[in-house]
Amino acid sequence: MKHFEANSPFARDIAAVLHPHTNVRAHLEKGPEIFTRGKGLFVYDEDGREYFDAAAGLWCASLGFGVERLAQVAYDAMKNLGYYQIFRGASHSAAIELSERLLALTPCPMSKVLLQCSGSEANDTAVKLVWYYWNAVDKPEKRKIISRKGSYHGSTTIDVCLTGKPEFHAGFGLPFPGFLYTDMPYYYRHHVDGESEEQFSQRLADSLEQLILEEGPETIAAFWADPVVGGSGAVLPPKGYFEKVQAILRKYDILFVADEVICGFGRTGNMWGSQTFSLTPDIITCAKALSAAMQPISAVLINDRIFEGMKIQSDRNGRFVHGFTYAGHPVAAAVAIETLKIYDEIDMIGHVKAMEPIFLGGLGALKDHPLVGDVAGCGLIAGVEVVADKKTRAMFPASVGLPAKLEANALKQDLILRHVGNRLAFSPALIITEAEINDLVSRVKALLDLTLAEVS
Ligand SMILES: Cc1ncc(COP(=O)(O)O)c(C=O)c1O
Repeated sequence: MKHFEANSPFARDIAAVLHPHTNVRAHLEKGPEIFTRGKGLFVYDEDGREYFDAAAGLWCASLGFGVERLAQVAYDAMKNLGYYQIFRGASHSAAIELSERLLALTPCPMSKVLLQCSGSEANDTAVKLVWYYWNAVDKPEKRKIISRKGSYHGSTTIDVCLTGKPEFHAGFGLPFPGFLYTDMPYYYRHHVDGESEEQFSQRLADSLEQLILEEGPETIAAFWADPVVGGSGAVLPPKGYFEKVQAILRKYDILFVADEVICGFGRTGNMWGSQTFSLTPDIITCAKALSAAMQPISAVLINDRIFEGMKIQSDRNGRFVHGFTYAGHPVAAAVAIETLKIYDEIDMIGHVKAMEPIFLGGLGALKDHPLVGDVAGCGLIAGVEVVADKKTRAMFPASVGLPAKLEANALKQDLILRHVGNRLAFSPALIITEAEINDLVSRVKALLDLTLAEVS
């Protein structure tokens, strides 16, 4: 097979490239899937085979692949300045305009924007800002951070501590002490028989309050949540959940950080997941669709309260001692500005709202499929849970190898599928059309039928 020829991209890849979230030994045998180009919702491999990417890469290529207009903006920005830093008060027009635009979009009043390069950097930096704030107001004992089991918040050392998934900790000797995990608001899987969504939310809120009281509210710095839990395959908050949680955070003076890395910029049917679920965070982190994934850029948005703390602390330390070389990179910032302009011009939010019933209706119809236990979503994000028994919600035993079967059967439909275990997560490019949604749903139905035949 040509892939195995010496000097083929395949051979060169396995000789040189380390891949995230890949078994390093298996990769030496299996090798890479090499993609050469993309257009709209589709990507093409080196043999020209076309794939429908149901996850827009990693929940991020909101305007699809290969966006000419953004390429032109990047080219111009690179020619004009190319690079400058924003350390020590230096600035440039792209950093200024992007920050202004973000502040004008925020779901609740925000004061300042700190530009970073990835969702992971944004969350990592936000942890520092939380600690900085409590030190500024002379409450250094407020240091512990509560996130949710099943959540993912990035891959730096600290983000992995925020992440409530043991498989991200294993092998690294993490998490550090001081990172606490409360229940995931996964109504479908974790409610008890007869429990309503409201009752389930109350039970989780009570358990959060109990954790805070056990640890001592005076030691809890912040609560971290993504509006829709991407790390567990697009899990939506049940009714009343965030209302109850936010009341507890206010009661014990705990900062709220909303991780909008997936949900920001239209994904949930509003500009922010915080709008969809009525959140009023102190800090927002965002990335991905900020630049339609065409450049690595992220932002941390802070409210006045945090900014007041930063003034105090930077006086004490002489300056805000933090920064990344590429923070506010002018090329990335220019691409992000243009992305926001495109969202505005094509009424991206209006389009997502118009597609939402078609998307959720199409996937929702799969609930009749013998393998589907749950379908839940909002905007253009949804989770479809595959179960062995619809009545008991029992999952297939690991020995069935369900995730591998789902993935293989998706590929037979030329569909790139994202799944977390037995839950399929859909987050197509936001520009998806009605015809493409119908196409997606029929591919998903076909892969489920094939999988059913294999597991029956
Ligand atoms: C909710 C959430 N937060 C943070 C991150 C980390 O972002 P990045 O991969 O850009 O570092 C991700 C990535 O998928 C995410 O889904």
